[in-house]
Amino acid sequence: MTPLTPITRCDTLIRKAKVFDGSGLEAAQADVALLGDRIAAIGDGLPIEAAQVVEADGLCLAPGFIDAHTHDDTVVIRDPAMLPKISQGVTTVIVGNCGISAAPVTLRGDPPDPMNLLGDAAAFRYPTFGDYVAAVGKARPAVNVAALVGHTALRNNHMNRLDRAATSDEISAMRRQLQEALAGGALGLSTGLAYLSAHSAPAEEVLALAQPLADAGALYATHMRSETEAILDAMEEAFSVGRMGPVPVVISHLKCAGVDNWGRSGEVLEALEAARRSQSVGCDCYPYPAGSSTLDLRQVDERVKVTITWSMPHPEVAGQSLAQIAGSWGVSQLDAAKQLQPAGAIYHSMSEDDMRRILSHPATMIGSDGLPNDPRPHPRLWGTFPRVLGRYCREEKLFPLAAAIHKMTGMPAGRFGLEKRGLVREGYFADLVLFHPDQILDTATFSQPIQAAEGIAGVWVNGLLCWTGEALAQRNGRYLPRGRTKWVQ
Ligand code: ZN
Ligand code: CU
Repeated sequence: MTPLTPITRCDTLIRKAKVFDGSGLEAAQADVALLGDRIAAIGDGLPIEAAQVVEADGLCLAPGFIDAHTHDDTVVIRDPAMLPKISQGVTTVIVGNCGISAAPVTLRGDPPDPMNLLGDAAAFRYPTFGDYVAAVGKARPAVNVAALVGHTALRNNHMNRLDRAATSDEISAMRRQLQEALAGGALGLSTGLAYLSAHSAPAEEVLALAQPLADAGALYATHMRSETEAILDAMEEAFSVGRMGPVPVVISHLKCAGVDNWGRSGEVLEALEAARRSQSVGCDCYPYPAGSSTLDLRQVDERVKVTITWSMPHPEVAGQSLAQIAGSWGVSQLDAAKQLQPAGAIYHSMSEDDMRRILSHPATMIGSDGLPNDPRPHPRLWGTFPRVLGRYCREEKLFPLAAAIHKMTGMPAGRFGLEKRGLVREGYFADLVLFHPDQILDTATFSQPIQAAEGIAGVWVNGLLCWTGEALAQRNGRYLPRGRTKWVQ
């Protein structure tokens, strides 16, 4: 690294912090000087004057957390304060996951399931990727935004119905739109092959569409075709897209879903490790044994608790379990589910042991998969990052603090190609979080999901202090175009 000219004055000096640099290394005490939007100097006892001095005494300073998997596409523009994320120390969100993105999208009516997770038809205002980037710039959200392009969004743009494979002409049209988005700074392509709106797309459709990714140095993220019985086949399908380019692959929210699959995390992680010997593969995970999405009839199982979070025809039942609703209506859970649609649900369909094993794996990044448009959201929206650090790291000792921080900083920055982010280094952008290592903890629960976490003392985004236990009026997030992805195995 080229040494920077030593400075004598800076904007902010954070003194005597326990600095975790995001690389996975142990912490060291240091002062960190911020100038403009960058980290200008790091050292013990820096002889630098500062407009603002923050005495960190004993608190931990880390790179701002990167939420590797979100559906914040439209909320960063509609509600740019981004309280659910900035309050956790998150400074960058990756949007456009699970095949659904706000851009490029042209609707012909209501958004198809699960694009409706991002909002109703009025929320889709970005026919080109450039329109979306411009809107993020104008909204200046509290956090940085980097975006994938959704396969289902592209299908919606070019196909008259989604329950079939795309023709070669349609694939060409989708590919042109993907290329345009990649040229405009998109991170890569995401799929949501488990959803009925993409399930009819054969592997060949995805392979053909993914061809421009390699040339662009972009990546492939996938909510796989199956997270249940056929998960190993689905993983192989994802790896095959990666081998073709070759392009790095991110398996989204890796899990063993459904009671019949509990206990299979060992074989799933073995398959992941086997692939990692020859190609770049990683995954993300949220720290809860329950998932959430739109209500899917295929996931209704009397052995699994399903909570309805919203329902268009029956808003009055939000918050109740499907079993309660079915009981009071005197019908089966499946029949109740049919009557509730379109609807949103939380599925308590995983085992805690599997989730912990996946969360602990060295290839796993932290991604909340939070749903900001849900009126009764899964608590992961507000709690994911402090829950990993407080509950699973400090209390349960699943992994060291330096490793936990790496999963939410340096690792995602490298995988997604976020240049000069994710590490505390001179010359890097000053996205930083200061937290109490003994106090950091999630407070959001399934019954009280909208609650800010505890223990986050300060959050800086591009050099500007934006959170001090409460949100400050100033916001400083940007759209982050794709940089070079690191070929991490
Ligand atoms: Zn998903
Ligand atoms: Cu998702």
